[in-house]
Amino acid sequence: MLNLKWKTPKEWLDVVFSDFNSFLLDHASCERKASSTNMSLVVKYPNRVEILNSLIEMALEELEHFHQVYKIIERRGLILTPDEKDKYVNYMLKYLRINSDERFLDRLLLSGIIEARGCERLNMVANALEDIELKNFYTELTKCEARHHSQFIHLASFYFDKETINKRMEELLIIEAEAIQSVPFRPAIH
Ligand SMILES: [Fe+2]
Ligand SMILES: [Fe+2]
Repeated sequence: MLNLKWKTPKEWLDVVFSDFNSFLLDHASCERKASSTNMSLVVKYPNRVEILNSLIEMALEELEHFHQVYKIIERRGLILTPDEKDKYVNYMLKYLRINSDERFLDRLLLSGIIEARGCERLNMVANALEDIELKNFYTELTKCEARHHSQFIHLASFYFDKETINKRMEELLIIEAEAIQSVPFRPAIH
């Protein structure tokens, strides 16, 4: 389903579980950023009316995920941390094309790919967790992020043909594999 070009090794999971509290704080921040990215697409492309409802719905879902992670953080007595620059995402943003239609497609596909990587890693966390409540939570999130991944490709299909989407997707997946390998493992989603 995900077609990522590079599989996250188990060593990443070891780093996550070496400091699970830091992972939770980063995870919360990723959910909130995902929500704002969806809303920024709504603001940037108000005329793409075919996809606005889906984008707003996804923004709401991501915000709900943020809230759910926040409740876990709160229970642990942790305090939210300020955003850090996301080297992984910034690496890929350099490759967004300039032409407005191409840039629009790239933004949708990149969002879908980031969802796929999130899904891969949340699934690894879900499988490794022993605490049942947390395990169920991460399992549900994994399903949701997988759905978001497919949804972005579906949204692109309102405006671009299959061949155009697949061709660019392949290129961006190669860039994503470089991006994810360029950042050292941290107790963070990427
Ligand atoms: Fe999410
Ligand atoms: Fe998502």
